[in-house]
Amino acid sequence: MAAGDSADPDAVSLTSCPGGPLLVRGDFEVQADDGTVIPKNRETVALCRCTGSKIKPWCDGTHKLLKRPAAEAEE
Ligand code: FES
Repeated sequence: MAAGDSADPDAVSLTSCPGGPLLVRGDFEVQADDGTVIPKNRETVALCRCTGSKIKPWCDGTHKLLKRPAAEAEE
């Protein structure tokens, strides 16, 4: 089965939230620059794309306060 096939239990899916985080669902790991695995406590996580989060790589909702136009936030 291909990644993204909802019938595949091992599939990982990515969803871009306009002006906000990247939602990642499925069985995956997130590694820091040094290769250390960053523990996650959920099957679905939100990765910060605005660079404003205080708990990177996770989204903490700060993007809502930045009030950037959606098009700018996607760049
Ligand atoms: S995307 Fe939500 S805090 Fe950065």
